[in-house]
Amino acid sequence: MDMITAVRGFKDILPQETGKWRYIEETARNIFSDFGFREIRVPILEKTALFKRSIGELTDIVEKEMYTFLDRSDEYITLRPEATASIIRAYLEHSMYSADPVAKLFTIGPMFRRERPQKGRYRQFHQINVESIGLDDPRIDAEIILMLTQYLERIKIADVELQINSLGCTTCRPDYRKKLTLFLRGKENDLCEDCRRRISSNPLRILDCKRKNCIHAIENAPKTLDFVCPGCNEHFAKLQEFLNIFGIPFVINTRMVRGLDYYTKTTFEIVTESLGAQNAIAGGGRYDGLVRDLGGPDVPGTGFALGCERILSLVPFKDDDFLLSPDLFIAAIGDDAEKLSFILCNRLRLRGVKVETDYAGKSLKSQMKKSDKLKCRFTLMLGKKELMEKVAVLRDMQSGIQEHLTIDDFEDIIVKKLQERK
Ligand code: HAM
Repeated sequence: MDMITAVRGFKDILPQETGKWRYIEETARNIFSDFGFREIRVPILEKTALFKRSIGELTDIVEKEMYTFLDRSDEYITLRPEATASIIRAYLEHSMYSADPVAKLFTIGPMFRRERPQKGRYRQFHQINVESIGLDDPRIDAEIILMLTQYLERIKIADVELQINSLGCTTCRPDYRKKLTLFLRGKENDLCEDCRRRISSNPLRILDCKRKNCIHAIENAPKTLDFVCPGCNEHFAKLQEFLNIFGIPFVINTRMVRGLDYYTKTTFEIVTESLGAQNAIAGGGRYDGLVRDLGGPDVPGTGFALGCERILSLVPFKDDDFLLSPDLFIAAIGDDAEKLSFILCNRLRLRGVKVETDYAGKSLKSQMKKSDKLKCRFTLMLGKKELMEKVAVLRDMQSGIQEHLTIDDFEDIIVKKLQERK
């Protein structure tokens, strides 16, 4: 019979890999908690309208990449392509702003985008996502960037570049958009079909087109930074001042427009040269109009998301570094010994000892091999003779030292030994 495989672009995270995953997630939880962020868990499915209204109808994500279904109740629902919109929806739905508009939240979990799968790009991928809602101060933007760079340092990711830009606000963006559209009209014939279409619908996205001809055609396009209003300018200057205080290196990338429409003022990305085409390991920015656009009060916000698969391909750890090896392996030979092993093994587990055994009736040699392979700290050998004499041999797998223990005392002795070693 044919084997049913996973859906294209969706992948399993195998047992040998989950140690690494837990490590990057736990490190994020620890650092974020130091900075005052609290975890929120939001659903994976949302009403399609939520993403259309927040990310923008004319973005690639909404136009081409969402997994959208008509539910049995005749309502369109979508597998979340990102978490920001869901977090803001939850912030509003639970009136989190009523006591205090400031909410510092993070979430970790899978996102879904129907992009063309390639190295570093999946259809189900995972993000570590941070949102700081309620404050307009550029110190907040600097603080989350500091938290992000600190996190990358802690998980030993080096050789990355922080790129920043400002996209202006509702005061200055319309003027910039007009100037950009005018420029793009003059270059229409040099642009790809997608970009030509975007001139009137979403001209800023053209700045992010990866096609060679388009990059060349827009080389001299007007830059947002030349058009930002004094308020946005000051905000951006202060952000840079605060980044400098903490010695966080950055470059200004005037081409960075991001793929989601809700951004205002500061946007940023962490990029690396080690990942080929999919070079962004994190991205984010300010979204001062989003809470209002989703039906809430006029509350600003800023945040970012890290791509877990991309950071995992960069961390300098091996799967084995996170192997949780058993404390003890019980190698039992013969029915009576196996019965005793079953009892000892589970009684020790109930006392918090990690124990493995083998119920397959294998030879002592092959059970010792298994203990070695699992990197167990001790092996207890139980055979007919040992049972008769009520003793068992305990072998320290690292030093090779063996000792005889009376079976009745064994449980307490092994618990004590393990405590001494800790
Ligand atoms: P984004 O730039 O679309 O931003 O995604 C953030 C990160 O998710 C990317 O830098 C990348 O590492 C990872 N990523 C995106 N798509 C894929 C994919 N198909 N496969 C693997 N990794 C991927 C956002 O999602 C915003 N919600 C971030 C944000 C939060 N802005 C403000 N708050």
